[in-house]
Amino acid sequence: MKTQSIPYSDFAEQNRIEMVDFYNEATEDYEFWSNDYNMHFGYFIPFKTNPFKRDSMLNEMNNQVTKRLNIGKTKNRLIDLGCGMGATMRYALKHYKNVVAYGVTLSYFQVKKGNELLEGKNGIILKENYNNTSFQSDSFDSAVAIESFCHSGHNFNSLKEMHRLLKPGGRFVMADAF
Ligand SMILES: C[S@@+](CC[C@H](N)C(=O)[O-])C[C@H]1O[C@@H](n2cnc3c(N)ncnc32)[C@H](O)[C@@H]1O
Repeated sequence: MKTQSIPYSDFAEQNRIEMVDFYNEATEDYEFWSNDYNMHFGYFIPFKTNPFKRDSMLNEMNNQVTKRLNIGKTKNRLIDLGCGMGATMRYALKHYKNVVAYGVTLSYFQVKKGNELLEGKNGIILKENYNNTSFQSDSFDSAVAIESFCHSGHNFNSLKEMHRLLKPGGRFVMADAF
């Protein structure tokens, strides 16, 4: 039997197209999952968060991630790499008044609707690839990636780009499935 191998670059490109299609089509349905449009799994703390009240667990994940950024009192530029509808950005903006939040996603639906949810807040979502963004080097104090780097197989390029964006001493927190 003759087999035909598909070059990895073609496979990755096809995967990217399907992922973007998925998020353009399915993001709206996440409102059922989370009123705040969190697009991740939650963080369970016995007797504190309740699996039957999903948003409390989902926002607890935002709490766990943002508190590990050690955001101080001075202006803090935060980037969310694979930000979905910006739920983590909104959480950070609500709880840390000195944060300026940027998010990147490949889904135009998330850019449009996510920015509507950010209206009047100090944050913006851009359609950019987290493996290769247009931001200047050393321009962020904090970076997060929640269940987003998994889409690139936790690629070295994703971590390299995050490292390029962060100022020396900046902090990165990732929450993901491996
Ligand atoms: C499961 S959602 C998580 C969204 C958000 N972090 C959250 O927790 O609500 C995955 C996100 O990763 C984004 N994503 C995947 N690959 C990406 C890439 N190469 N560049 C930018 N965003 C990407 C998707 O567009 C989507 O917004």
